Formats: sequence, C-alpha cells, structure tokens
Amino acid sequence: STRRDLAGTRILVSAGGTREPIDPVRFIGNRSSGRQGVAIAAAARARGAEVTLVAAHLEVPVPAGVRTIEVSRAAELESALVAEQPAADVVVMAAAVSDFRVAVASDRKISKQDTGEALALDLVQNPDILRGLVRTAPEGQRVVGFAAETVDDADELLRRGRAKRERKGADFLVLNSVGVDHGFVEDRNSVIVIDASGDIVATAAGDKLSVADRILDAVTGTASEPAT
Ligand code: C5P
Repeated sequence: STRRDLAGTRILVSAGGTREPIDPVRFIGNRSSGRQGVAIAAAARARGAEVTLVAAHLEVPVPAGVRTIEVSRAAELESALVAEQPAADVVVMAAAVSDFRVAVASDRKISKQDTGEALALDLVQNPDILRGLVRTAPEGQRVVGFAAETVDDADELLRRGRAKRERKGADFLVLNSVGVDHGFVEDRNSVIVIDASGDIVATAAGDKLSVADRILDAVTGTASEPAT
C-alpha cells in the first residue's frame, strides 16, 4: 500500500556514527550502523516526504530519492544540520555523536617510537548538537532526539529518558535499550517515544522500517495506517 500522507513535509534526519580523528589513519568512533536513522529516512520518503539525510559512516545503503550529505566528525555533522535546519519541518537526530574529540589531532601517524610505553590522548567535549538545534529551531519545527541506554528495565529506561528530554529540550525523545550485542546492529528494534511532557506517545517493536513508521506517526501527528 502507498499513502503519501507526508507529502509536503520536509524531514531532516541524521544517521550513523561520527568519527573523531586521532591521526590521519585512526579515529575514535562508535558502533552505530545508521540503520534506524536510514529506516526513518526511507519510511518518510516512501510516504512522500522531502527527506535530507546527514550521514556519518553508514553501514547500510542510502535509500533512493533521499538527498544525502556525507559527514565524518561531529563538527561537520553539526554544520550540515545547522545549515539545513531552517528548511525542515521535522528534525530527527538519530546519529550517534562522539561526546569527546581529540583536542589536537596529529597530522602525522603516531608511532610507538614517538610515544614509548603509553600514549595519553587529550579529549575535549563536543557540543551537544541536539540541544543546539532545539535552541535554534524555527517556530513550529519539531525536534526529535534519541536515547540509547544500556538498561533492560523499562521503568529505568523511562526515568532516564525523561531526565534526558528535560536536559536537551527536544519535542520528542525516542528511547531504546541497547546492549553490547543488540540494538545497534540487528534489524529489529524496540522503542518508546515520549513527548515534551514526558508522556508516552508511542511504543513500537519490530523491524526498523515499521518502527520508523510508528516514530513518524508520533512526531508528525498522523494516524497510523489501518491494517489492510
Ligand atoms: O546524551 P545522549 O548522547 O544519550 O543523547 C542522545 C541524543 O543526543 C541523540 O539524539 C544524539 O543524536 C544527540 N547528541 C547530540 N550531540 C552530542 C551527543 C548526543 O546531538 N554531542
């Protein structure tokens, strides 16, 4: 079935995981594959939305019909999003952003000979991109964040998610429980979506594409498609 219920809606999605350079060949990264963010972009596109994807090291292909801007470091992700934000009705911040970067990346490959027995890296904090986007959001734009927590208990997940939503100020936060071996790479996901009051507005479990549809329903305020 095809419904074009998001035709005319402009959606900006970030997906993947940023990499912070240590030297020309090494980086600090994370395990995000980009699957859930890409699924949101694909689902939105399939429903007629105009989608821009800011992609950081995706392990999955970019969906057809989605305008894509490739980035690597958190600073690049931030500038791309800041540039695209004014033209979006909904911003979905699904990328896993490095919280820290190497203060001064080496312009030459660091060798054992340079460092001896131990190597210390000076790390400095990256800005919270989501919090910044919340501050600069134009009137009426909805900003959606994600919170992946390594907890299995739903009450604890919700407690942390509500606190995180307060801190970031996002209009919606998508909560999911991740572990070392699940959440990031599998094609299935299970999420709870909370709104600005901390109320649960959707729960979804299943493959990342159907979870994406439920997230889009919740954040765009559209009713879900009746089963056919
Ligand atoms: O605090 P935590 O990293 O769990 O928050 C996750 C949410 O914040 C995600 O939406 C992520 O994209 C966003 N984030 C960000 N900038 C950071 C860290 C996280 O935008 N430096």
